[in-house]
Amino acid sequence: MASGKGKNSPSPALTIYPLSPVGAAEIDGIDLSQDLLPEQVAAIRAALADHPVLIFPGQSLSKTRQARFSSHFGELEGHIGKLSDGSTFPTVHTLTNLDAAGTLINMDVARLNWFWHTDKSYHAVPALVTILYAVEVPPSGGDTQFANARLAYDALPTDMKARLDGLRAVHDWVASRINSGTSPATAEQRRARPPISHPLVRTHPETGRKSLYLGVHVSYVEGLPEAESAALLAELTDHIGQDRFVYTHRWRRGDVLMWDNRCLLHRAVPNYEIARHPRVLNRTVVIGTRPF
Ligand code: SIN
Repeated sequence: MASGKGKNSPSPALTIYPLSPVGAAEIDGIDLSQDLLPEQVAAIRAALADHPVLIFPGQSLSKTRQARFSSHFGELEGHIGKLSDGSTFPTVHTLTNLDAAGTLINMDVARLNWFWHTDKSYHAVPALVTILYAVEVPPSGGDTQFANARLAYDALPTDMKARLDGLRAVHDWVASRINSGTSPATAEQRRARPPISHPLVRTHPETGRKSLYLGVHVSYVEGLPEAESAALLAELTDHIGQDRFVYTHRWRRGDVLMWDNRCLLHRAVPNYEIARHPRVLNRTVVIGTRPF
């Protein structure tokens, strides 16, 4: 739990409770609304290398404080989409099923998040970490799932690893709208997000480990006939989504989750009464490096 006592203690020690062999851990002993010491930032980075999903329970974060905490890890992404809660805060995006008047709304855009993806993979320089803060959660359900793409890669047969070696996939905002059955990309979104090619297997710049890198934003695998590309993507998506690679997070109000997009896929699970219960999460995304 957060200390709630103002300043963080000068001790950088974090208490880390591993939750899942898939790489999720809960971290205690830190109040993210307070200024962090460089040692605490370093300790969080180190924890992330071992546990790509970090959960900080019992936090209380304004948007300003969330942006400040997030910016310890790099430059923050802006958001091209219109904010559904009417907010103009450029780097803190609210995922919500409420409109500005507090009325439950159409979830068309959020549908995209129900499919496995890694954040901003349609950018030349995609996301490093995403940070979600639970402002309001349904009484049950509304979970978020994480699939460990590093473990999934490691578990592939040798001949599949050889087949994937050197392959690249095109990630495209237009394709992700089609793949998820959401409304077509606007002209502005098309202009801002031209298709981009990334390796299908990427190497983590800090751990040196390889991970599958795909998801709903992928349009096709370069150099393969259309049917073969689609079959390969479907096979890999099925593989990565197996229970043995997946951690399911059941939200509590005040949870902050931080995850490493370079070695995980994630998706929101629509397993709650969307038209009945608000689900409000504030989201920041830290820009990463070009995948290789
Ligand atoms: C996301 O896909 O970034 C959001 C996940 C969620 O709403 O649970």
